[in-house]
Amino acid sequence: MENGLWQLLVRRGFLVQSSELYGGLAGFYDYGVMGAPLKRRFEDTWRRYFLSLNRNFHEIDGAIVQPEDVFRASGHLEHFDDPIVACIKCEHAERADHLLQEHLKEKFEGLNEKEYDALITKHKIKCARCDGTLGHASKQNLMFPVTVGVQSKTRAFLRPETAQVPYVNFARSFEVTRKQLPLGLALVGRAFRNEISPRQGVYRMREFTQAELQIFFDPSALDAHEDWDSVKIYRLRLLFAKDRKKTVELTCSDANQKHGIPKFYLYHMARVQQFYLDVLGVAPERFRFYELSDEERAFYNKFHWDVEIDVASFGGFAEVGGIHYRTDHDLSGHARVSKKPQEVFYNERRFTPHVLELSFGVDRNVYALLELSYKEGERTVLALPHTIAPYDAAVFPLVNKEGMDTEALRVHNALSKKFRIFYDDGGSIGRRYARQDEIGTPFCITVDGQTMKDRTVTIRNRDTGKQERVSVDALEIKIRELLD
Ligand code: GAP
Repeated sequence: MENGLWQLLVRRGFLVQSSELYGGLAGFYDYGVMGAPLKRRFEDTWRRYFLSLNRNFHEIDGAIVQPEDVFRASGHLEHFDDPIVACIKCEHAERADHLLQEHLKEKFEGLNEKEYDALITKHKIKCARCDGTLGHASKQNLMFPVTVGVQSKTRAFLRPETAQVPYVNFARSFEVTRKQLPLGLALVGRAFRNEISPRQGVYRMREFTQAELQIFFDPSALDAHEDWDSVKIYRLRLLFAKDRKKTVELTCSDANQKHGIPKFYLYHMARVQQFYLDVLGVAPERFRFYELSDEERAFYNKFHWDVEIDVASFGGFAEVGGIHYRTDHDLSGHARVSKKPQEVFYNERRFTPHVLELSFGVDRNVYALLELSYKEGERTVLALPHTIAPYDAAVFPLVNKEGMDTEALRVHNALSKKFRIFYDDGGSIGRRYARQDEIGTPFCITVDGQTMKDRTVTIRNRDTGKQERVSVDALEIKIRELLD
């Protein structure tokens, strides 16, 4: 990903290959002094939005290392694999479906090993590195195994998704939250996958962050939602599996009646789309839901639509999240392996709750928003949404004399109690503006000669470059208004 944006991200302290000092390790990245607050602000925006969807949605946290039995129960031990082909000569390995996609420009997920072999032979595909012959396709499990304890034989894994933590905590959480459904358990945290060929920068990482919300609900209420009326005429942007040529816009009501997508599922699709369009400011034409076919669906899903954003360096529309109807797959799996029932008694019935999962990759989303915000031209600007920009505003003295520096520091210190404020007194004012434009700071406040006469400062708008004068005493209210 050696484009202008990537160079800016490295130069300005957003993202860098992890352990770059030692040549790095493919699939691992670090967030720097601008990247870390940006990522945290995305996560906080996600939390604020999704946890407020229902009074019974809560956040939990949990261990990254989980015992083998968790993944026996979830099916990851048996099914969480990707097809791999290795060169007979140089042993270079690739994902079979990605190799075919690169050559034939269509998706090939979910085939069996024989089908991959047949296609590779038919299209005479060779090793990308040495042009050698490729061996037979096989499967590789993507989890990172670990052993726990000294000389211990206790097998465990780094979690490949955050989701299993809420599942193994479901029964206790249901008790604690006064036995109500739906119950939402959100977790923002690291996940690990030993991806076969991590490419496209942060698109395919080996250690990454997920923000996932597991919604446990009564399956007899799948085709209902108490707030359905608020979304039924809302238009979703959908790319159906049976017609991959065109994204269509359909009301939730039509998607329910004409295509049989259940109301509980559609309600959450609408809220997810609104998160992207209304909260993050993604242009509608760059957003769509992509329905996965039976072959493409994750092994645990009954309904599966990906959330896709059109990002050039991801190769066009690409997955940044997913809405997964996991049924009782996980809770029943845990009941079977742990021998501890996961049923609830609710509304006079005993049953195992079903799960609707709203799953997002934080790194992919953050990168997508960076790319959509990046504008090159007379000025280079990261026009990030205000909610996620690393800083709310910057404060500068025009020059470091005549009391302007002291006053600017005073303004900075006062505002820092309420906002994230950058202070810069080095170099020309033009260069300082340009630096803030590049890190996406929405407003720059300058203390100048006039400030010393009438206690007013200029506020410059990142997107328009325009300035206005505001009294120092009114600054806090003004910034709050501008950020809103
Ligand atoms: N709990 C469900 C689950 O993990 P997934 O589709 O495998 O579903 C969810 O992953 C999201 O996590 C994806 O939509 C993507 O945004 C992100 N993700 C998955 N693998 C990733 C990787 N190797 N690197 C970066 N993000 C990844």
